[in-house]
Amino acid sequence: MPSLTEQEAQMLVELANEARRRAYAPYSSYPVGAALRAKSGRIFTGVNVENAAYPATMCAERIAIFKAVSEGEREFEAIAVVTPNGGSPCGGCRQVMAEFGLDMIVLIGDAEGRLLQQTTARDLLPGAFTPDHLKS
Ligand code: THU
Repeated sequence: MPSLTEQEAQMLVELANEARRRAYAPYSSYPVGAALRAKSGRIFTGVNVENAAYPATMCAERIAIFKAVSEGEREFEAIAVVTPNGGSPCGGCRQVMAEFGLDMIVLIGDAEGRLLQQTTARDLLPGAFTPDHLKS
């Protein structure tokens, strides 16, 4: 079971909050940042990237995870998600987190850099459909 020190958790929240400055959110004005720590120790950030065709928008968490996977990482310890007001990861992001391990720690923070909640992908998505369901 992965665990984080308070200092490690706070550092991930700070990185996610800093990443928010790079969010591309001209339509919602709701900049989101994510910071993902792989088991290797590498850290990947992500921001929401919106689009004039709204459904083509991508969330910060998924961008961080997809960046990491595209760089060869598949095992993750924790992801911090920072929104203006401590909003929680959307359903699509919960599903993508679940794909890479239900033990992933999820830290939720706000624009003041406060860590508001520490949870896991398992708790965010009870009864998740996972890769195990496709094994015969
Ligand atoms: N958003 C995220 O980046 N992550 C979430 O988990 C929730 C929503 C973004 C998508 C969109 O750019 C904006 O927040 C408002 O929905």
